[in-house]
Amino acid sequence: MSASDTLEFNPFLPEVHEDPYPLYHRLRAEDPVHRSPLGFWVLTRHADVLAVLRDPRMSRDPRRSERVALLRASAEVDELLAAEEAAPSMLFVDPPDHTRLRTLVNKAFTPAAVERLRPRVEELVAGLLDQAAGAGAMDVVEGLAYPLPVTVICELFGVPEADRDRFRAWSRGLVHLLDPLVASDALERALRARQALRDYLGGLIAERRAHPAGDLLTALIAAEDQGHQLTEAELVSMCVLLLVAGHETTVNLIANGMLALLRDPEARARLQADPALARGAVEELLRYDSPVQFTSRHALEDLDVGGRRVRAGETVVAVLGAANRDPAQFPDPDRLDLARSPNRHLAFGGGIHFCLGAPLARMEAAVAIPAMLARLPGLAPGPAPPVRRDTVTLRGLSSLPVTFQAPG
Ligand code: HEM
Repeated sequence: MSASDTLEFNPFLPEVHEDPYPLYHRLRAEDPVHRSPLGFWVLTRHADVLAVLRDPRMSRDPRRSERVALLRASAEVDELLAAEEAAPSMLFVDPPDHTRLRTLVNKAFTPAAVERLRPRVEELVAGLLDQAAGAGAMDVVEGLAYPLPVTVICELFGVPEADRDRFRAWSRGLVHLLDPLVASDALERALRARQALRDYLGGLIAERRAHPAGDLLTALIAAEDQGHQLTEAELVSMCVLLLVAGHETTVNLIANGMLALLRDPEARARLQADPALARGAVEELLRYDSPVQFTSRHALEDLDVGGRRVRAGETVVAVLGAANRDPAQFPDPDRLDLARSPNRHLAFGGGIHFCLGAPLARMEAAVAIPAMLARLPGLAPGPAPPVRRDTVTLRGLSSLPVTFQAPG
């Protein structure tokens, strides 16, 4: 057997990074509960991924994993990890802390609360497309997919416009922490970026405490002050999570979604002709090329997963992107079918950590994608090819050039 025949889960290989779906299909068919030589398990079937996400014996807390010990390569890294571990965000804790933290922000992200933001989202999209429309060419990422969600989340939190560029650099740096393996120098850089962001937010919180405003940050500070429901360190971790999620995910939904539509003129024409398809189309684009490809869980006790024995402390990587192409759940899974129904994709996860920002991400994409198709006639990819981001957990593009007919 040649090296290329060996079945291994390595999302960093260039061909897998470009198109992971053939590998996912092979893993699912040949070894659906795969034991990586690096010591973790890899799940690619929809049923197994969903079962693990819903299983209370599976922890989201990395402090309960054997593998985290391996990260503590140097005293400096250890110290930087400790700052966040003292007060992790809701994404990295189990109940009861998870329930307490999530309840505090839940109401800001309900579908009804998000609907109130729709007029502002429409206004932002129209403004960004006005800027682009005359030129006959744009980069979808720089021109729309990135500035839209970033402006929305920064406005919710009251992050001053002048600070947003610094923010972008920190956010870009720290998302490498989400990848399954990080080289030790990259890890240190990412942890420094996170610390810089924490320090900045500490300053913003102090400023907002002195001068309350009508934003989400002020509301969270009030929760901290009044009920002892939230410590200051937890408040900072919560802001890091929400602001980074707001910077790094919806951008990928809009860009991956536009790329899929650019490559499928029939689907694109269908959506253009019938904007009422938008809501279902966004679900299909989330399934087809998922912005978050994996998440992980750590077994709290010995248990069976998809017919194999996982031991307490072992880590299971749930490949959402593979679950979303499982033919047992989705007929003809590699076809983009904007009217697919049912569409029980796992792009937002499942169980108690199901994405808090899902209603916001869905609404932003459902406004932005049809608006691009309507406002930019003759949309076509090019002249340069799209460029993929180097992260693997977050699957996205750093550039997606397109051309179209300029008016007049
Ligand atoms: C297309 C865009 C998005 C995708 C694909 C996405 C995906 C996900 C996934 C897969 C999870 C679950 C992770 C796990 O179970 O381990 C998650 C959790 C989360 N997401 Fe999103 N997300 C998106 C947008 C957003 C936005 C815009 C926000 C907020 C501004 C957000 C906030 C969160 C939070 C706070 C959690 C943790 C929830 C918890 O632990 O209870 N997400 N997201």
